[in-house]
Amino acid sequence: MQIFGFLDVRNNYIRNQNIRTIRISKTMKELSVNHLIGIKYITKQDIDLIFETADHFKEVINRPIKKVPSLRDVTIANIFFENSTRTKLSFELAQKRLSADVMSFSAAQSSVKKGETLIDTVNNILAMKVDMVVMRHSSPGAAHFLSQNIGASVVNAGDGAHEHPTQALLDSFTIREKLGDVGGKKIVIVGDILHSRVALSNIFALQMQGAEVKVCGPKTLIPKYIESLGVTVEHNLRKALEWADVANMLRVQNERLDVSYFPTTREYTQQYGVTKELLDSLNKEIVIMHPGPINRGVEITSDVADSQQSVILEQVENGVAVRMAVIYLLASKIKN
Ligand code: CP
Repeated sequence: MQIFGFLDVRNNYIRNQNIRTIRISKTMKELSVNHLIGIKYITKQDIDLIFETADHFKEVINRPIKKVPSLRDVTIANIFFENSTRTKLSFELAQKRLSADVMSFSAAQSSVKKGETLIDTVNNILAMKVDMVVMRHSSPGAAHFLSQNIGASVVNAGDGAHEHPTQALLDSFTIREKLGDVGGKKIVIVGDILHSRVALSNIFALQMQGAEVKVCGPKTLIPKYIESLGVTVEHNLRKALEWADVANMLRVQNERLDVSYFPTTREYTQQYGVTKELLDSLNKEIVIMHPGPINRGVEITSDVADSQQSVILEQVENGVAVRMAVIYLLASKIKN
């Protein structure tokens, strides 16, 4: 398999000349892992390398010619056992921008419905000579299990309420872009922390970079172990926002609620929904984030989601560059 050196590709683009097909130099920095299963398995150096690489790719995707031939000999399968809009499209676009061959698979239209196991499904895909698998699954640990059982690089695109590493990376990348640095910043994650893979991956990523993290939500949606992760808890939204530089608003994951965790959606919104009035009444301007999908009028009002303070669409844009970086760096580790 041939991986093109990114900087050579980039320089060649600048010169608008033929692309040289060279292997990545042995001295090039590389990730400490062969798979991206979760933020807790990577290092601060890995995050720095991903961001440095994503900076270059962000520049590339804002050019008139947005595609580089870096992964021309790489085949990637996106297998989604759970619904997705942003993550699936963002991975597909990232792969296409890198010129990889892309196969996308949704469980709803597959033989999984006929009783095929995860390993059989993936082995059949791998028999088609796939180098990398990007997987979303409802079971925590599914991506780790896959990485132990197949001979391809695995990227976790969300496993149940466990981790969503590329979401946390793009969130931190967006904070870094907006505020200059993640280190020393105060981030509050608001909402359904109990069922959220985004919250857990964000906590690991933000702390690794030296940010302070607080979570805010009803007692029933904050896991009891959360303080053992070095996170503080605040149940009063106004106090949490007054403390924060950034608020990352999470939706209530209704699809994972087995019982009622709060009396009514209206009551939840009154206590934990961010409104323009609430933001305007704070003594400072904070950055508003949301991983999507947004429930407008529940955890965030439309005027906040669409305001100057919101970086929600920047998060989506940065997702492509960050996922290009992750895929590119992992692909460069795949042995021939
Ligand atoms: N942020 C996120 O994971 O969105 P999707 O569920 O649409 O992929």
